[in-house]
Amino acid sequence: MGKYIIKGGNKLNGEVFISGAKNAVLPILASTVLNSGICILKNVPMLLDTFVAIDILKDLGCEVNYGENTVVVNSKNMYKTNVKEDLVKKMRSSIIFLGAIISRFKEASISYPGGCNLGKRPIDFHLSAFKELGIKIEDNQKLIKASVDTIKERIIDLPFASVGATQNIILASIFVKGKVVIKNCAKEPEIIDMVKFLRKMGANIYGEGTYTITVKGVEKLNNIVEYTIMPDRIEAGTFLCMSAITNGNVKINGITPNYVKSLTDILEQMGCNIVIDKDNIKIKNDKKLKCIEFLETKPYPYFPTDLQPQLMALLATADGESIIKENIFEARNKHIPELNKMGCNIIEDNSTFIIKGVNKLTGKNVFAKDLRGGASLITAGLFAKEKTVVEGADYINRGYEHLDKKLNILGADIKHIKD
Ligand code: UD1
Repeated sequence: MGKYIIKGGNKLNGEVFISGAKNAVLPILASTVLNSGICILKNVPMLLDTFVAIDILKDLGCEVNYGENTVVVNSKNMYKTNVKEDLVKKMRSSIIFLGAIISRFKEASISYPGGCNLGKRPIDFHLSAFKELGIKIEDNQKLIKASVDTIKERIIDLPFASVGATQNIILASIFVKGKVVIKNCAKEPEIIDMVKFLRKMGANIYGEGTYTITVKGVEKLNNIVEYTIMPDRIEAGTFLCMSAITNGNVKINGITPNYVKSLTDILEQMGCNIVIDKDNIKIKNDKKLKCIEFLETKPYPYFPTDLQPQLMALLATADGESIIKENIFEARNKHIPELNKMGCNIIEDNSTFIIKGVNKLTGKNVFAKDLRGGASLITAGLFAKEKTVVEGADYINRGYEHLDKKLNILGADIKHIKD
């Protein structure tokens, strides 16, 4: 699993370049099976999860080549329609392969992704939407087998704006005779990115970024597509929190600032000086920050669950008492006991977190139990005066490319020790 060792107390200073978005590249890699041709993807973050998606593609019979931040997939000779169980278990988002494979081959099977370290994470919205589209689903709670003669024209009204379900329905509908309308769909920027990629491939989709997406079926797709993955708004948000906690002065480059507005608004309220330009944000902080009254995680454009742990570390060192309510994942709380070990004062009551700001944190041996929780421990470690050891580095490496290198360039003292 490896670990990160941080000697805290250094102010972050300088410029950082943000990598391609993990949550965009994974569904886009899954989408590459659709065109029976070549997809050239650029700005790909070479993360552990990216390699799992590449392994899935190879196992399905696709040819995959990659170099620095570029992945080329040729899915012409893909022949398998079942996604291997051990790969599905490594990455929950592999469920998105189901929609892409059923679209091209009219059959697909995948083992149940089951629960994960964020909680139950059911897929009932995906499966009931598939059934509405005329897809036959055999589901024994371990393996899902899907088959279809013809995808039906439908209006699907999602009970909740689920990111994964929206992606799966779009992919399953690419070749529908007529159109599929998805209402109450997710508006996340990563959905917009996947749709832009599919459109380059020749798909006919509109409405992305609104509450209604329409997929008009096409007969065939382009054989060669080149696409550049969007920047990672969660990585950008993590660097914003890290800069703020160290009283830093950092320019975060290569991003779409509007995608992190829900965070920059809060950082400004807390007292950070934020300057927003077309593709970068400058953050400067030289004083103790103020608490916030109340914040809850909600689907985009509201505050993302993926930044809750990192902001919590920052609030834990602010002046006064803040309250966060986590609405998306019931088990996105595993960082709290670890942060408390370091001296934070955070109490949990049924997914509501009461955070009383403290002046000092002490470096300790702490354990990352999931990706973003791990990032919050590093955020706290950058503030703590003594040495912090964050075990479970592989969780963090699932979502942050060259984290140690980027932080060290900014003046931090952090080492990544591989096992
Ligand atoms: C979620 C996040 C996404 C984040 C990703 C990785 C939201 C809305 N989604 O996407 O921003 O990048 O995790 O951390 O913030 N649900 C069901 N049944 C389903 C599908 C979902 O009950 O079939 C529930 C989930 O348990 C959860 C909520 O709906 O409470 C949102 O889930 P969804 O958006 O589908 O999750 P991901 O696609 O994993």
